Amino acid sequence: MAQKHEREGILVIDFGSQYVQLIARRIRENRVHSVVEPPSITVNKIKKIAPRGIIFSGGPLSVYDKGAPAFDKGVLDLGIPILGICYGMQLIGKLAGGGIRKSGKREYGRTVARFERRNPLFDGIAPKSVTWMSHRDKVERLPEGFRTIARSENTPCAAFFNPEKDIYGVQFHPEVVHTAGGEKMLENFLFKVCGCKRTWTMRSFIEKKVSDIRERVGDRDVILGLSGGVDSTVCAVLLNKVLGKRLHCIFVNNGLLRQGEVERVEQLFKKNIKLGLKVVDAEERFLEALKGVTDPEKKRKIIGRTFIKVFEENARKIKNAAFLAQGTLYPDVIESQSFFGGPSETIKSHHNVGGLPRKMGFKLVEPLRDLFKDEVRKVGAELGLPKELTERQPFPGPGLAVRVVGEVTKERLEMLRAADWIIIDVAKKKNIYYKTWQIFGVFLPVKSVGVMGDRRTYENTIAIRAVTSVDGMTADWARIPYEVLGEMSNRIINQVEGINRVVFDISSKPPGTIEWE
Ligand code: XMP
Repeated sequence: MAQKHEREGILVIDFGSQYVQLIARRIRENRVHSVVEPPSITVNKIKKIAPRGIIFSGGPLSVYDKGAPAFDKGVLDLGIPILGICYGMQLIGKLAGGGIRKSGKREYGRTVARFERRNPLFDGIAPKSVTWMSHRDKVERLPEGFRTIARSENTPCAAFFNPEKDIYGVQFHPEVVHTAGGEKMLENFLFKVCGCKRTWTMRSFIEKKVSDIRERVGDRDVILGLSGGVDSTVCAVLLNKVLGKRLHCIFVNNGLLRQGEVERVEQLFKKNIKLGLKVVDAEERFLEALKGVTDPEKKRKIIGRTFIKVFEENARKIKNAAFLAQGTLYPDVIESQSFFGGPSETIKSHHNVGGLPRKMGFKLVEPLRDLFKDEVRKVGAELGLPKELTERQPFPGPGLAVRVVGEVTKERLEMLRAADWIIIDVAKKKNIYYKTWQIFGVFLPVKSVGVMGDRRTYENTIAIRAVTSVDGMTADWARIPYEVLGEMSNRIINQVEGINRVVFDISSKPPGTIEWE
């Protein structure tokens, strides 16, 4: 049985678009629930969910390509409004009996389009405005019952509409910011076309989750690996609400954490939230395992393996535990079910505990698997967590080990910790911390000559890395004012022994990555 917010919500069908998560998020920003499903979803299942509307996403293929995702044309007769975007429009055109022209020429970038007046989809949008296109094929012959409602110079049918069935198709991408009225068009589709209600709130989510967890876990105990980051913290606080003492959190100090992190986590959980927390000190074990290792991938694998061992040893000591809680988020769920099967190449081995539950016979609880990151932050705020915690920047699982280039030693970690603390302190005071996705220090074992007082120095380098990003997938280097960089540099060189040079990283992602290793 579909939940109320699902019935009030929109079903997004993912035909392999790079923007599918963006579409789902834009809908939720309007407080309407959205779910993403692969093209294998059946018309019967859609009937059961009974969403208010359906969006067909774009996709990289042509509707006539071999292996291109198709769909049961019965979807057009469900009486549910549909909006097809790019590939989605072409697919509707094909299913409804129209003609799609495969053209060798790609239309890419900003294009001015003229919109039909008084169409509900374009309500409040200038009759002539900029859209963002990225396509090769286009609708050449309209299917029966459809009419053209937008035109551009290169694309005579830039949008179509079937008034009887409330089916729309747009050749451009309303979900990207470059389409001037895009946000408004999606809003029009949700409220003017589909009649959605704004029922998706974090309070309603928490209420529903609390009863779900109660039902799933029963009277058993749950173990959770706490990292101190936003996801695992929110997960712990939410579970704690239901389970109290039956939730056991394990926090592994791997010696690769930021300055004051262990104390901060203890303070928050033991004193404020009164949560069952076990801090395991495994610093020596991790540093021993990392001795002499310089290759980034080897470092990541060693840390992942050591973490699993330490976690497992400690988890086994907890009797009656049947579940392992994980802070999996919706983007991971979407990626794992994607038509093209998720990311194609491993750029970096990410640290996770995915292998644990099966190996140890645990069942999984993943209370955040329906949420995007910004929604997790909102749930945290709703649960009463302070902003310093809910708005915390991401920190990689392998910790400072991937921010010490070359071999990881205790001495290098100490230098990095001190420098990184200064960078964060200045960023917070100068009101930059919450405006960047991440800002941190990287230790470079590059020695250079300096002069301090009258003395020659020959010491290491710290790089300041600061980026802006929406989801960590792409990023730009943050334009930090010179005086702020100057203050960071002065304080680091004066206060951190072993560092005599500070540099600023101005690479974007791609082609760089955010972390150096
Ligand atoms: P990169 O360096 O790949 O990082 O551009 C993208 C984002 O992911 C974070 N990151 C990680 N997060 N485990 C994590 O949980 C990891 O192993 C890991 N490696 C990188 C990184 O901080 C950035 O926000």
